[in-house]
Amino acid sequence: MKAIIPAAGLGTRFLPATKCTPKELLPVLDKPVIQYVVEEALEPEGVDGVVIINSHEKPQIEAYFSVDQEFEDMLSSRGKQAEAARVHAASTLPVSFVYQDEARGLGHAVLQAAETVDEDPFFVLLGDYFVPDRQMCVRMAEVSKAHGGASVIAVAPVPADQVSRYGIIAGECVGCLPGAEATGEQEGAVWKVTGLVEKPRPEDAPSHLFIVGRYLLSPRIMELLATQGPGAGNEIQLTDAMERLLAEEEMYALVVDPSEGCDTGTPAAWAATNARMALEDPAFAEAFREELGEKGERFFG
Ligand code: UTP
Repeated sequence: MKAIIPAAGLGTRFLPATKCTPKELLPVLDKPVIQYVVEEALEPEGVDGVVIINSHEKPQIEAYFSVDQEFEDMLSSRGKQAEAARVHAASTLPVSFVYQDEARGLGHAVLQAAETVDEDPFFVLLGDYFVPDRQMCVRMAEVSKAHGGASVIAVAPVPADQVSRYGIIAGECVGCLPGAEATGEQEGAVWKVTGLVEKPRPEDAPSHLFIVGRYLLSPRIMELLATQGPGAGNEIQLTDAMERLLAEEEMYALVVDPSEGCDTGTPAAWAATNARMALEDPAFAEAFREELGEKGERFFG
């Protein structure tokens, strides 16, 4: 089973930084964002490889995941064995690449991996968002198993006045994760999805649950994507093909806590993610507070 990570976008919200550095390689503490995503993607049982959808304009991503023996030897010769080992570990992760020639939307990006997924269901994890405890996809796989291998998406509650910024699901709560005792829009609740609405007006929104960027999809979606015309923004949208999938197959949604994930798609989100990770990671927390000094007390108390 494969996990697909689309990372071929233009990263325009992060310009000028992303002129020469792919958004997915920006660091969170000492690791690029996409390494967190790859490590998360490998967590569910059965996932044996990650396929990154890359752009030819972003060769640095493939370079990062390739072995550079000369560089590792140089580090070792300078007594930096631990650093060399970390560099090596990243470059031996089971990652392969396919290319999207032009950024024509998320659906078009996913379609580029059609041959690599074959007849199997597969995960899609957006390349600019990660879940530090890596358990979201694991729980999605549990929901899929409980419902005969159906497609599952992760959704999270959003305040009513913000629904127009997101893809929102329609449907009804049909249960919850084992041991969760959750209903409605509570974390752990499971919904049967009946529709997907892109950026609805608050008065038209069928729920307050938005799609957070983690999908476990039936391979049938690839056939639908192959015939999917452009939608919003003149891009080939994954949600449009998922809407068509709903007419043929069951789809479920798992409600997750929105604070579980870390967004890095905009400078503000990326900065907040770095601050959060620095405060939560014991290897960085003390040094981070020290670096901030008095300013830190003003910010964090
Ligand atoms: P985003 O819409 O957040 O990324 O897509 P973007 O298009 O790069 O960002 P902006 O809007 O220009 O600032 C989520 C993920 O999907 C990938 C992106 O690389 C990102 O990791 N993506 C998006 C593709 O691979 N191909 C596309 O055509 C669009």
